[in-house]
Amino acid sequence: MIILLDDQLVSRRQAQVDIEDRGYQFGDGIYEVIRVYEGNMYCLDPHVNRFMKSAEEIRLSLPFSSERLKDLLQELVSHNRLQEGNVYLQASRGTAPRTHAFPSKNTQPNIVAYTMKAPRPFEALKKGIQAITDEDIRWLRCDIKSLNLLGAVLAKQNAVDRGCQEAILHRDGRVTEGSSTNVFIVQDGQLYTHPANHLILHGITRQVVLNIAHELNIPVNEKVTSVDKLFQADEVFITSTTMEVTPVVSIDGRPVGEGKPGPITRRLQEAFEKQIG
Ligand code: PDD
Repeated sequence: MIILLDDQLVSRRQAQVDIEDRGYQFGDGIYEVIRVYEGNMYCLDPHVNRFMKSAEEIRLSLPFSSERLKDLLQELVSHNRLQEGNVYLQASRGTAPRTHAFPSKNTQPNIVAYTMKAPRPFEALKKGIQAITDEDIRWLRCDIKSLNLLGAVLAKQNAVDRGCQEAILHRDGRVTEGSSTNVFIVQDGQLYTHPANHLILHGITRQVVLNIAHELNIPVNEKVTSVDKLFQADEVFITSTTMEVTPVVSIDGRPVGEGKPGPITRRLQEAFEKQIG
């Protein structure tokens, strides 16, 4: 398999992680996941822009421009002839003797990207998924797509342990987002989702859905909702690069609405399908 290592395409075997890589030791780095449909990276510009923004927020300087990064990712996808799947991209602050503060100025970030074949999640899109609610124990800069994913890992595992596919997180009863997705609630024909502040990742699929809702004249409220409202919702769905617009049909074992994907979710799914096609 061919991967991107810094600015070179090399064989996977040539890429090694040093024991003092700061991503490995501290989670000191950032990442992106980009979906590939029919050989094309979907929403490449917003993904690369968010990557650049995350880098800036953690004061990591990348050795290339967005334009150059897009070209390199394009070469990677073409070289591997990826048709349906994902590109994973990450940058760590580099390799340096272990100490919490930033390493010396000449330390170069370690950048890797690779492709993964993956079909679209057709079954989840059609039938919906089951979710749990869980406390949001993550840090207060969830807008940065950082490599520190322990809060998300533990929440997702709590969901899996209960036979579910996603954990819907809340801080003191205020719904934030899913462990790896954004959460939307439909109530009386209107959409509700957490505002894009420091408590959630500003999902690219979330933004696509907000734009679609606007086009379809579905009113949108970027407002915090409570766990109580989540349970009373007519419909609930999650969004992400890999899960697209996936209905949530039960939460903590209780059915959402009629316990099957609702009509507004279906309309948004259909419109999303047209965008990617
Ligand atoms: N997860 N919220 C969190 C915490 C996420 O990790 C993600 C993405 C999203 C959705 O963002 P987007 O629509 O830009 O993919 C929301 C990726 C896919 C992952 O970690 O695998």
